[in-house]
Amino acid sequence: MKNFEFKNPTKILFGKGQIENIKNEIPENAKVLMLYGGGSIKKNGIYEQVNSALSDHDLLEFGGIPANPEYAVLMKALKVIKEENITYLLAVGGGSVIDGTKFLSSAALYDGDHPWDILANKIPTLKGMPFGTVLTLPATGSEMNSGAVITREETKEKLGMGGAGLFPQFSVLDPQVVHSIPQRQLVNGITDAFTHVLEQYLTYPAGAYLQDRISESIMQTLIEVAPKVLEDPSDYTAASNFMWSCTMALNGLIQKGVPTDWAVHAIGHELTALYGIDHARTLAVIAPSHYEYNFESKKEKLAQYAERVWNITDGTTEYKASAAIKTTETFFNELGIDTKLSQYTDDYEGTAEEISKRFKERGWEGLGEHQNLKPEDAEKIVKMAY
Ligand code: NZQ
Ligand code: ZN
Repeated sequence: MKNFEFKNPTKILFGKGQIENIKNEIPENAKVLMLYGGGSIKKNGIYEQVNSALSDHDLLEFGGIPANPEYAVLMKALKVIKEENITYLLAVGGGSVIDGTKFLSSAALYDGDHPWDILANKIPTLKGMPFGTVLTLPATGSEMNSGAVITREETKEKLGMGGAGLFPQFSVLDPQVVHSIPQRQLVNGITDAFTHVLEQYLTYPAGAYLQDRISESIMQTLIEVAPKVLEDPSDYTAASNFMWSCTMALNGLIQKGVPTDWAVHAIGHELTALYGIDHARTLAVIAPSHYEYNFESKKEKLAQYAERVWNITDGTTEYKASAAIKTTETFFNELGIDTKLSQYTDDYEGTAEEISKRFKERGWEGLGEHQNLKPEDAEKIVKMAY
């Protein structure tokens, strides 16, 4: 096991009725800006619950943060924060609203002229404006981590940011919110969380028995609850396990002491930036090709994954490893997720070269757990995914 440090300061309020308790988490004298997306919270009752919980607080709101939070929209929210002297942010939404709020938390205290530099120059955020979240869509894990991904339509970029100052102070996880989530977003959530575990697990054996088993149990739980959540999103037991699995998949715990990959996400973000494909779907497109391309260096963990998660116990290491890749792709397909780029766009020719060019320009010369994947390798992986 590798050396590690671990600190996660986010307080989780899990369960039915927890939205009400946010009033105890936000300082009484705070001037709060509630941030939300395209309006789903106004249809499912969450908006009213938040407003009633904060009836004694000084509360303003900013709605309209789109999926894949857009820089231009966030800059309008930043103006409100400055003009209204906001002191506390509250994200009510999925990964996009939470990530957008993290950007604002950072940008609100940033003294440079162009907040985009936080992303373009990879400036870590050590201190941000305090914020909490009410999660409405289990998927990204953003509710309990310190990372965010922001999109800029103008330049077709999608870049990450983060830092110790970007953990939410608290996050409400009320599984009852799952009942109103459309099927498309439910399968996205399952796929995204599942791939988060794969990125931190499908590398090479590192003698981290416990981290491996926690990862395997998160995947097993997602596989078990997926059909139940899809059949009945108001099944509370299924929704609770779905929600907590998604949070646990990316709150930092399973990546401690082990190598991590994240190449699938790096390449996937480009597909969202270029074509607007849902984040989770880009992962399902890239993951099978990535594991096939890096078969030799990943085959031991692939075989362990085959045995422990999919119960594929017969055959050689190579046989099991190969079966694991196919089974994973089938799992995504059975959720209704297409795993080839050409199923999302007719305009895919040249995509691989474009992504390779972008990685070269950014100096991303070493992706993956061995930091040895060059832009040329990413190009080949994307071509395999056409
Ligand atoms: O905007 P509204 O109207 O609220 O509708 C949203 C949105 O259209 C809807 N929705 C959310 N909760 C709902 C609901 N509809 C009905 N009932 C509810 N309870 O779902 C749609 C998608 O929401 P979005 O927040 O975009 O989805 P998700 O949570 O999948 O977030 C995706 C974003 O997170 C980033 C992705 O790149 C993408 O930009 N990620 C963030 C990560 C992180 N911070 O750690 C890690 C991930 O790998 C990922 O990159
Ligand atoms: Zn993801």
